[in-house]
Amino acid sequence: MRTLIQNGTVVTATETMEADVLVDGETVAGIAAPGSHGWTADKTVDASGKLVVPGAVDVHTHMELPFGGTYASDNFETGTRAAAWGGTTTIIDFAVQVKGEGLMEGYEAWMGKAEGNCAIDYGFHMIMGDVNDQTLKEMDMLMDEGVTSFKLFMAYPGVLYSDDGEIFRAMQKAAENGSTIMMHAENGIAIDVLREQAVQRGETDPKYHTITRPPITESEATHRAIALAELAGCPLYVVHMSAKEAVAEVAAARNRGLNVYGETCPQYLFLSLEQHLAAPGFEGAKYVCSTPIRSEAEGHQEALWQYLATNDLQVVSTDHCPFCMGDHPVYGTQKRLGEGDFTKIPNGLPGVEDRFELIYHGGVGQGRLGLNRWIEVCCTTPAKMFGLYPKKGTIAVGSDADIAVFDPNETWVKSAENHHMDVDYSCYEGLEMTGKVKTVLSRGRALIENGEYHGAPGDGRYLPRDTSQYLI
Ligand code: URP
Ligand code: ZN
Ligand code: ZN
Repeated sequence: MRTLIQNGTVVTATETMEADVLVDGETVAGIAAPGSHGWTADKTVDASGKLVVPGAVDVHTHMELPFGGTYASDNFETGTRAAAWGGTTTIIDFAVQVKGEGLMEGYEAWMGKAEGNCAIDYGFHMIMGDVNDQTLKEMDMLMDEGVTSFKLFMAYPGVLYSDDGEIFRAMQKAAENGSTIMMHAENGIAIDVLREQAVQRGETDPKYHTITRPPITESEATHRAIALAELAGCPLYVVHMSAKEAVAEVAAARNRGLNVYGETCPQYLFLSLEQHLAAPGFEGAKYVCSTPIRSEAEGHQEALWQYLATNDLQVVSTDHCPFCMGDHPVYGTQKRLGEGDFTKIPNGLPGVEDRFELIYHGGVGQGRLGLNRWIEVCCTTPAKMFGLYPKKGTIAVGSDADIAVFDPNETWVKSAENHHMDVDYSCYEGLEMTGKVKTVLSRGRALIENGEYHGAPGDGRYLPRDTSQYLI
């Protein structure tokens, strides 16, 4: 099957060109100026007036994550289908190891959940909930399976938390085997004290989730994680960054030549304590996630956009981890578990369908990012950072034909009514958007076309990954 995408503007991280793209089977077979070739195809896609961009790569999702007494409401089937609607053709999800289990057990469990269910290609990072002699050995075994990055938590004491000694031991192993340590950098011990004191004072509304996780709890942990990684000599990737002071720590480390990287997410660029967490009643629960959404008055959102523009932050992912406000048909009560006590609200929010269009809208559309930088932070760098490039993350001869045709001028309104994620609200309800994904190809097959989904569970394949291709 050959598909010719004609008369569009092809945008990659480095180029913007008027070009036709020939897809043969699962890969890109040619890129050439319109009229300069004699290609024939079984099918043509007219991309006049549109951008032809790489399928986006979301390196931080949590389908069906067990958290806070429930499960993230999207499973691998619904979540990856929604991702495709938003132009994302690859995810890297987090397999989880909990105390008392091995890493391989966690990996196999998550492979079982994903296999036969995904609409798009997928890989895994491994969450290490227990660092010990056995799990340190298993890090090597996972490298052989193509799991080349390991997430540790300085937050959530008693659940996924690791102390500095455990973190340092995992980092030493990463330095030895070439993997990347991903860090949830918040001082969970101090945060737990603040949370307990707040509840004792009767401060139980959702906004106290942000207030009890002040920026210094993120910047202190980020600083400490960087110091430990420098000592161990491993690459460090700090996930879901929201505090400008914490990103300043990443920027300083990078200026010193360290392999330290930072990721942020759309929620930290678009949402705020004042307008969202502090909304009347229990509404703020929609926006409870960790690290927290921060104060606009303190200027975090604009600072993050700027850090993205200057490559002090390298990646935008979603940390997609949705929980319903009303009852979920399978899991029952979700966000409302924390009514009357913000510490019991499951942490996480939806975004896997939203990210690519949102970063165009707020970034390119509002003059904060160039077109190529949009592709770099949503597609190319994520693929390089986690060993998937150039198969994923670009449009080049020989790359997988994961391609989105994007209308930069279409205007529309975001709503839970028109999204495809299995969650009953949108964080961006009513937002007037410019730019929309129109057609999506995954390895050459049209998943989204003419407003319809043509994929099926099981279309997506597991992606064993290489080590980071973004190191200094
Ligand atoms: O609030 C969040 N981020 N939920 C998902 C788990 C995590 O820490 O990434
Ligand atoms: Zn986290
Ligand atoms: Zn996460």
